[in-house]
Amino acid sequence: MKVLICNQPGELSYVEKETPVASPGHALLKIKRVGICGTDLHAFEGTQPYFSYPRVLGHELAAEVLTVDANSAFKPGDTVTLIPYINCGKCVACRAGKTNCCSSIQVLGVHTDGGMAEYIEVPERLLLSANGLSLDELALIEPLAIGAHGVRRAAVSKGEFVLVIGAGPIGLGAMEFARIAGGKVIALDINPKRLTFCGEKLKIDHIINALTADVTAQLMEITGGDMPTVVIDATGNQKAINNAFQYMAHGARFVLIGLQKGDISFSHPEFHKREAALMSSRNATREDFDHVITAIKNKLINPLIYITHRVKFDDAATQFASWLNPEAGVVKAIIEFA
Ligand SMILES: NC(=O)c1ccc[n+]([C@@H]2O[C@H](COP(=O)([O-])OP(=O)(O)OC[C@H]3O[C@@H](n4cnc5c(N)ncnc54)[C@H](O)[C@@H]3O)[C@@H](O)[C@H]2O)c1
Ligand SMILES: [Zn+2]
Ligand SMILES: [Zn+2]
Repeated sequence: MKVLICNQPGELSYVEKETPVASPGHALLKIKRVGICGTDLHAFEGTQPYFSYPRVLGHELAAEVLTVDANSAFKPGDTVTLIPYINCGKCVACRAGKTNCCSSIQVLGVHTDGGMAEYIEVPERLLLSANGLSLDELALIEPLAIGAHGVRRAAVSKGEFVLVIGAGPIGLGAMEFARIAGGKVIALDINPKRLTFCGEKLKIDHIINALTADVTAQLMEITGGDMPTVVIDATGNQKAINNAFQYMAHGARFVLIGLQKGDISFSHPEFHKREAALMSSRNATREDFDHVITAIKNKLINPLIYITHRVKFDDAATQFASWLNPEAGVVKAIIEFA
């Protein structure tokens, strides 16, 4: 089979490998779509922490089942997506149902080889039925589930002001699921193109450009002086995260979906007086994936609007570098397989 390998930062090449055979409890999948996310781009750039090379990238997948155990709920020919986090099932997090933060989690395309290949063998228990969704929609489920998980962590309730900082694919998903939860969403970014996308495609009511506006004054005005009771970071920018502590209402929750190297710092008295809660949000669970699938089926979100770039598998190696250029305006690029 043909496999696209990232040998080292900046270097992608096609190699021929033995097609895997599904071992018991596993399924052999024929890859149909791979969504590209920041993790893949940063791995290619060489800026992704804890990353080792060579690695086959790709964890946002849509595929067809080729072989699977006879007693599986799936059968050959089924269209699927999958939860690309291989959890151990035994650690303290797994025992508590927090499979998303398993202490020895292996993410496909990060810790172990991913889906930029014609075929992949995966544990059957991680498959999700297409449920009538298209291949493109299926490839968007994982990044949307990341945002959905962050919103679930925040326990957004109807009528709350939810500030989402960072309007990349992850933040956009958080905005959509905050809206679905009944939140009044405020989008904050420094990239005018991305903010325009929020307004035009996602119909977000409140949009703030942190470069040109007095953010605190704007938030005060929008929230009638209360400030947002939920703040979600989806920038992964240290300065943005440290700043955001001051945007919280008294009694607010601050959820960090975005991830950055280094320490966070904030004023303890300011944090204390708010009795604020700070939470990280890692990956997503099956419940989040199911929530995303239902939301797409019920037409509460349309993931197809995220797709800005599309390429055939054979051309992915040459196109990849161009997606790193901010001028390309990539929200979601998709690799299409025959
Ligand atoms: N929780 C998880 O499991 C998980 C999974 C995937 C990605 N992530 C993280 O989520 C974050 C977002 O991912 P993405 O793919 O959407 O990234 P992205 O780079 O496409 O988007 C980030 C956005 O933040 C904006 N931004 C940067 N600095 C800012 C600032 N100071 N103020 C306001 N906005 C600012 C950028 O303009 C950009 O639009 C990253 O940190 C990524 O590592 C987390
Ligand atoms: Zn991703
Ligand atoms: Zn575990």
